[in-house]
Amino acid sequence: MIRIDEEKGRVFIEEDGVEREVAMDSPEAFRRISRAWLRAGWDHKYVYSFTWLGRPIIQLPEDMLRLQEVIVALRPDVIVETGVAHGGSLVFYASLCQLLGTGRVIGVDVEIRPHNREAIEAHSLFPLITLIEGSSVDPEVVARVRDEIDEGAKVLVVLDSHHARDHVLAELEAYAPLVNVGSYLIAADGIMGDLAGAPRTAEDWTWNNPAEAAREFVRRHPNFAIEAPAFAFNEGSVERAVTYWPDGYILRKR
Ligand SMILES: C[S@@+](CC[C@H](N)C(=O)[O-])C[C@H]1O[C@@H](n2cnc3c(N)ncnc32)[C@H](O)[C@@H]1O
Repeated sequence: MIRIDEEKGRVFIEEDGVEREVAMDSPEAFRRISRAWLRAGWDHKYVYSFTWLGRPIIQLPEDMLRLQEVIVALRPDVIVETGVAHGGSLVFYASLCQLLGTGRVIGVDVEIRPHNREAIEAHSLFPLITLIEGSSVDPEVVARVRDEIDEGAKVLVVLDSHHARDHVLAELEAYAPLVNVGSYLIAADGIMGDLAGAPRTAEDWTWNNPAEAAREFVRRHPNFAIEAPAFAFNEGSVERAVTYWPDGYILRKR
């Protein structure tokens, strides 16, 4: 539990019945306040309030800004995302590809609702987007994704579909062979593990979440490591992203 004295710039942290006090400008205060803010954002469905170039994008803006840094540094030939919903994240990646003059996007969803498909197909960035309908772990769907990608292409994968541990683990196993050394598999929404007791959550989220899948995947595959990318620019004192994707960046090391 935390209490904040904004006037004095102090944060009071209670753990196991003992209260400690830290300064607002300490890394711990920033971390604890951010955690509380993420929880409040979940309760308010804050991430369901943004669009990108006209399409709803169900993401925390900081996660998109950080991912933009990765995409600019990596310049992938193909960005694969499982979980399309309204298409906002596909349009986000496609807009970066267009500005960078390189790359295209493949989106996979078990159900692309007709109004979403119509709007995505009508979007000016649709020439850079390929939609594939079907379960992300269906071997036929995985094969269709693979067939869309040229040999040797630099691929970045974002997993944002069904967030149960076993599903994400199956996605990681299925899509990992597409990812090159130096690129990432991203398991979105590991925040589920930190949301115990919040509305619209389930008790098993403490273990049944994408971050658990990521941790199990790197245990199985030592050529991958959970490694959040360093900030591309940082003149402040915050060193870790405020993110819905804790332990979400899985780097292929070799
Ligand atoms: C969180 S939304 C995706 C949000 C989107 N990436 C964005 O940023 O706006 C999750 C999506 O995953 C899809 N989904 C659920 N189970 C799936 C599966 N087995 N395979 C592929 N997509 C699935 C749902 O239909 C839903 O559209």
